[in-house]
Amino acid sequence: MSAKYKKVLIIILCVFMLSACGKAEESVEGKLIKVGFSQLGYESDWRAANTLSMTEALSEEHGYELLYENAKQRQDNQLLAIRNFVLQNVDIIILAPVSETGWDNALAEARNAGIPVIIVDREVDVENENLYLCAIGSDFFSEGITAVNWLEEELVKTGRDKEEIRIFNLKGTKGATAEIGRTKAIEKAAAEHNNWNINAEYFGEFTEAKAYEIVRDFLNSGGEMDVLYSQNDNMTFGAMKAFDEAGISYGEGGDVIIISFDAVQRALSMCMEGKINLCVECSPLHGPRVEELIRAYLDGEEIDKKIYVEESFFTPENLSEEIISERQY
Ligand code: AHR
Repeated sequence: MSAKYKKVLIIILCVFMLSACGKAEESVEGKLIKVGFSQLGYESDWRAANTLSMTEALSEEHGYELLYENAKQRQDNQLLAIRNFVLQNVDIIILAPVSETGWDNALAEARNAGIPVIIVDREVDVENENLYLCAIGSDFFSEGITAVNWLEEELVKTGRDKEEIRIFNLKGTKGATAEIGRTKAIEKAAAEHNNWNINAEYFGEFTEAKAYEIVRDFLNSGGEMDVLYSQNDNMTFGAMKAFDEAGISYGEGGDVIIISFDAVQRALSMCMEGKINLCVECSPLHGPRVEELIRAYLDGEEIDKKIYVEESFFTPENLSEEIISERQY
């Protein structure tokens, strides 16, 4: 090789090395945090708002590479997703578990790979709590207590506190923390009031379609109720359709008192119109909260094991157009 060509080659090599060096620096400084998020499904308006909140907060713009998996309400899909996230060597796993049990092995795999797991929305029931970093979501039992306290007062106010009250417990997904906590609250209250009688309970999977079928069949077979304790808004919408078809009135001044959980915009509008008596809030806006937890973890801060978010409740009396329109979900 001539001296002239050697010189050109050296220059090309230097330029290449310099640019490679620059790239390496860039990717270290601007490295995205790789997050695997296993969402349990898309069964409700609440879930849609939750997914949006999570994906917006964990976006590339905020410094994340998000691997998102929707499990369609099936735990086996979630177990598979966790294993895939481990194989893809993510920095952190976020799990919104469909039900509480059955997570020990998958979480142990993540732990053995040194990947922290944040549980969001519902909780997991595992032998060793060290299998996950922390859990953030709603205190579902306390939501249920808000509902039963309201019902107790309402029955006194309307002079029905000595009457027999037949309660239809329209449950969500079997074994989900939201179902367990809300059911525990109504069962506790029924045990404390001789005149409260849970005369029907069914699992409606938190979906409008399933709830419609259940309530329609119950009414068609001659079933009656004084209170519908509906464990989410979408099931309430399904039940309302069945009431309408059967010519049964509900809400303020109606035959059936409706208690509904979530307080999504659509339900709040119906509550303001008097069609739903009580909307107990369940916040789906966990994205920024989870994001903050990830940052705290990476900064080496101490993190509480269980974090419950603050929630409220709505009736036609405390609602306004403003509250509804300002609502993000
Ligand atoms: O886990 C939260 C519950 O799940 C919400 O109440 C319900 O709408 C959702 O499907």
